[in-house]
Amino acid sequence: MSSIKACIFDLDGVIVDTAVYHFKAWKRLADELGINFTEHDNERLKGVSRVRSLEIILELGGVTKTEAEQQELATRKNIWYVEMINRMTPAEILPGAKEFLETCRAAGIKTALGSASKNSSTILDKINMAHLFDAIVDGNHVSKAKPDPEVFLKGAEALGVAPAECVVFEDAIAGVEAAINGGMKVVGIGSPDVLNKADLVVSGLDKMSLEKLDKL
Ligand code: BG6
Ligand code: MG
Repeated sequence: MSSIKACIFDLDGVIVDTAVYHFKAWKRLADELGINFTEHDNERLKGVSRVRSLEIILELGGVTKTEAEQQELATRKNIWYVEMINRMTPAEILPGAKEFLETCRAAGIKTALGSASKNSSTILDKINMAHLFDAIVDGNHVSKAKPDPEVFLKGAEALGVAPAECVVFEDAIAGVEAAINGGMKVVGIGSPDVLNKADLVVSGLDKMSLEKLDKL
């Protein structure tokens, strides 16, 4: 019998692939600022907060902005990003994500969202998955970004489950570290070379099963 009572899911890169929309919006902003920003650079923004993402882009370009200017730039990027996610549909759910959440819930395992995004409710609404989570914790509820475990600890607390009884699903290195820092098990979604600190790495939730959860 497994000790796992809850699964906590990151959103971007685990449930949906929004990295492409983040990239388009950041690229548009970088172009306006005359900063060269590539898809390779975009990898560094995964799992990272909006404010920190902007700092990384400004650092890449050697550009300095005041705090007020940074706020304006981050807001401008977010308006473009929200225009894109408002057009998302359930067809964009990553393979196996919905099915695995349904499998967990049918087995009595609680589910939570643990995302850095402040746009998670828009995305969950567009892909029609909000009802599959017992608790939703996102960038609006936390003050410390991953690799700090705050977002996952709040998720566990909201579910009434001890951290050691939780498994986190994460595609970002910072997210894997956040789960470990919170005393949780972690399944990496992506490449074992990159997510080498995870207890198990799979290419997507379509490769997960209750048997694999049991063995963690
Ligand atoms: C994370 C993404 O889920 O959310 C990051 O991986 C993103 O790339 C962060 O920067 C914040 O998202 P948002 O929607 O609040 O700008
Ligand atoms: Mg992610």
